[in-house]
Amino acid sequence: MQQLTIRRPDDWHLHLRDEVVMQAVLPHSSSWCGRAIIMPNLVPPVTTPEMADKYRQRILAALPEGHNFTPLMVLYLTEATTPAEVRKGASDGIVTAVKLYPAGATTNSDSGVRDIEKVMPVLEEMAEIGLPLLVHGEVTDSDIDIFDREAVFIERVLAPLRKRLPELRIVFEHITTRQAAEFVLAGDDNLGATITPHHLLINRNAILAGGIKPHYYCLPVAKRESHRLALLEAVLADTKKVFLGTDSAPHLDPAKLQPCGCAGIFNAPNTLACLAQLFEAHDALDRLENFTSVYGPEFYRLPVNSDTITLIRHDTAQPAIAPVVTEEGPVTVFDPQIEIFWSIADNC
Ligand code: NCD
Ligand code: ZN
Repeated sequence: MQQLTIRRPDDWHLHLRDEVVMQAVLPHSSSWCGRAIIMPNLVPPVTTPEMADKYRQRILAALPEGHNFTPLMVLYLTEATTPAEVRKGASDGIVTAVKLYPAGATTNSDSGVRDIEKVMPVLEEMAEIGLPLLVHGEVTDSDIDIFDREAVFIERVLAPLRKRLPELRIVFEHITTRQAAEFVLAGDDNLGATITPHHLLINRNAILAGGIKPHYYCLPVAKRESHRLALLEAVLADTKKVFLGTDSAPHLDPAKLQPCGCAGIFNAPNTLACLAQLFEAHDALDRLENFTSVYGPEFYRLPVNSDTITLIRHDTAQPAIAPVVTEEGPVTVFDPQIEIFWSIADNC
């Protein structure tokens, strides 16, 4: 049996939802994460610092005893968000970042941004105070193929925005393409990216080959294998520009398994085991900690966590993780389609 001890990781992109679903899923993150960037796409969305603070308190109240977890709150950017409320939310220590959803791009994004011009005053304020903008990087035009929406977003929105406001600190969230990886690696220190475990492990065949598999459907949708390999290469290159954001996005199984199923993959329970397996397969276990625990805090200008967690490599493959049961129904956990020999040690 092999062991690996690393600094406690953080999750720089997490959906915790609210109420009974949050109660059920939160421990699957707070058991291994020190901090997480909490996505604000609730219904209604978290659009003010007051709402963010109340949501933060609900998360803290739902934490299991002994879990030392800090939720880092994110404001949902709308065309009505004001520079003053963003400045105040940041200076009060409530708001860690602001999230840009192009309207209609993903789950609960209808209140997002239609015209970037309308939010320029807020983005200018953020550039001035150094507050990161988190970007869901997909155009929403119906004439753009869904597999091209990220690459087109770079050309039409992100590259022009970077030119116009180079001081704005941007995290290109959950990147899924070679184009995004290249764009981020070529950028300066004001540009970083999160990468999910599932986009490192599966390509679009997982969703579509041999029958349609709703549990592999998320947004941005997984792309072809060459893109997965580009993401993997970026992570294995051990660069501070890319760090872990799970995009763990639980939906009740009935909401996924229907004619118009929700986008989102729930991976919080096995993120670290999956990553350890993947890094081991590439003889890169020595680089895992930087991706999970070092480069994220560096981008956010926060200290790394001071404690550690231990991963164990078993001699036999570990059983698949059962769905997490909530009071409203089950939530299926991401199946990485490879044998997983790793788990988190019980005392972490
Ligand atoms: C997320 C969700 O369900 O909230 N879904 C997803 O497929 N990733 C939204 C998002 O991050 O796009
Ligand atoms: Zn997300």
